[in-house]
Amino acid sequence: MNESQHRTTGPERTERSVSITFDRATKIYPGSETPALDALSLTVEAGELLCLVGPSGGGKTTALMLINRLIDLTSGDIRIGETSITDIGAIELRRKIGYAIQQTGLFPHMTVAQNIAVVPRILGWSAARIDARTDELLELVGLTPTAQWRARYPGQLSGGQQQRVGIARALAADPPLMLMDEPFGALDPITRTAVQDEFLAIHRAVGKTTVFVTHDIDEAIKMGDKIAVLRPGGLLAQLGPPEDLLAEPADDFVASFLGAERGLKRLGLYRLGDLAGEQREPLPDWPRLPAGTTAREALSCATAERADGVIVADGETPERAVPVARLLQPDVSEGAA
Ligand SMILES: Nc1ncnc2c1ncn2[C@@H]1O[C@H](COP(=O)(O)OP(=O)(O)O)[C@@H](O)[C@H]1O
Ligand SMILES: [Mg+2]
Repeated sequence: MNESQHRTTGPERTERSVSITFDRATKIYPGSETPALDALSLTVEAGELLCLVGPSGGGKTTALMLINRLIDLTSGDIRIGETSITDIGAIELRRKIGYAIQQTGLFPHMTVAQNIAVVPRILGWSAARIDARTDELLELVGLTPTAQWRARYPGQLSGGQQQRVGIARALAADPPLMLMDEPFGALDPITRTAVQDEFLAIHRAVGKTTVFVTHDIDEAIKMGDKIAVLRPGGLLAQLGPPEDLLAEPADDFVASFLGAERGLKRLGLYRLGDLAGEQREPLPDWPRLPAGTTAREALSCATAERADGVIVADGETPERAVPVARLLQPDVSEGAA
């Protein structure tokens, strides 16, 4: 029974990742005539981060709570790997799934360390193992693993720190699945960006299958490998990678949800380093930008300087010129542009 001794990172992570499949999953709450979630069918592949977006009341929280059986399906099925959730016991589900919610849900009368240890205790880990894991997690989410930190109560932490502890707690037993319901919703924009970046770095390192609920389309574009848009009534409006939704929204509802600037948001998904550019002699006198700059930021710079393009200066390869026309079509293959 020592599957849980697997390390957080390492080659075994792909084996441990597992898919989640919604198969015409439907929820009608008692006393309600219309579904909150209506025959949702989609698969989150192993290791993938799916952002579930939509207006308030669109059924996002319902979809998450169905996965870990906080509520029961009215009809249809949800499978984890090949197994229906109805065939998995509650303890087993809790061991498999880390769950983080907007109001962090930290227990106020428990210290940081005690909060993080909740699931490992249920699983019967030794005190030494729990301590080691707690320190590892505090470091992972950008908090200092000192005795002083471990002994603090949630009320002694800032909102952003509480959210980090909430994420650490969700990750504690190294679950192959993460469910996150507007986990960064309560944060100010600067903290939010920092926590988003940290979570993405953790996700890239650990590769857990994640369903991430947000009503913020920009957060979904930033975080999601794929985005599922739900419309009121819990119907799936569109599913696909962010670049596909931005390039070709399925209908007016999705287009309006993506916002008037969806063309520019799409340019934000491409980086100068991915564009070959032109090695001209001499190089034009255009703004010089690092390879990590997005096409959107580069376009903004070129516009501000009234230049017809930008120069990619990444210190390694020869400097290259990228004309504005190329920035506007970053997905077109080189040579065709
Ligand atoms: N416990 C409940 N009983 C009855 N209706 C509910 C319950 N929870 C949510 N609903 C309804 O289901 C719909 C979807 O809610 P929810 O999943 O919370 O949406 P979201 O998270 O996208 O805002 C809403 O119309 C909401 O009022
Ligand atoms: Mg909700």
